[in-house]
Amino acid sequence: GGGAAASRRKILLKVVIVGDSGVGKSSLLDQYVNSKFNNHYKATIGADFLSKEIVIDDRRVTLQIWDTAGQERFQSLGVAFYRGADCCVLVYDVNNARSFENLASWRNEFLVQASPPGDPHRFPFVVFGNKIDVHESKRQVSEKRAVAWCQEQALAGGAAGVPATPGATGTTAASTHNSSMPLFLTSAKEGIQLEEAFKTIARMAFEKE
Ligand code: GTP
Repeated sequence: GGGAAASRRKILLKVVIVGDSGVGKSSLLDQYVNSKFNNHYKATIGADFLSKEIVIDDRRVTLQIWDTAGQERFQSLGVAFYRGADCCVLVYDVNNARSFENLASWRNEFLVQASPPGDPHRFPFVVFGNKIDVHESKRQVSEKRAVAWCQEQALAGGAAGVPATPGATGTTAASTHNSSMPLFLTSAKEGIQLEEAFKTIARMAFEKE
């Protein structure tokens, strides 16, 4: 964004968290917003959001963070939860390879449901590899593998089957390629990397404006 974009910048940013059931989406939100962690699993039904105000580059921003159900049977509440999102967080569990392999379909599903205006390949995504606090002997997804996937997605433009917005202009190679998809190895349990991750999210959502 250039200087003229500054006046158009939103101070409320909508962030949507998606990923398989049990990867820790609700826990990440609870830790980040309320500094709490609960060992007991409670399925999210539909979706819910929490807000948190942060200061970024001398600017006050309210993050409205939506936590969606990972379990398919609880996902019936439709597109309203995805619409208007400024950033999407794709979460997997570093100790569960399947949850990592499902990220591509979560990404596509998000783009289909949210149908963000403009070029979908440029929509900001951030990846969280959660439960990094668990002993390394349980690790199923190496950081190297995750980094490689993030780079691949960014280069490929990622979203197979998601049509570009009709009439969108500027579909040159440069504009269709999302330059980066940052990866954060997080722990909702121990509060690892959450502040950094959400600051990056806020910055990316700003730049998209
Ligand atoms: P759905 O609501 O079904 O989509 O699940 P979810 O992704 O919201 O998962 P949730 O936050 O409910 O966490 C699932 C389980 O993993 C709970 O028992 C949590 O206590 C545990 N958990 C979540 N995050 C972490 C973490 O960072 N470390 C560890 N060790 N456990 C975690």
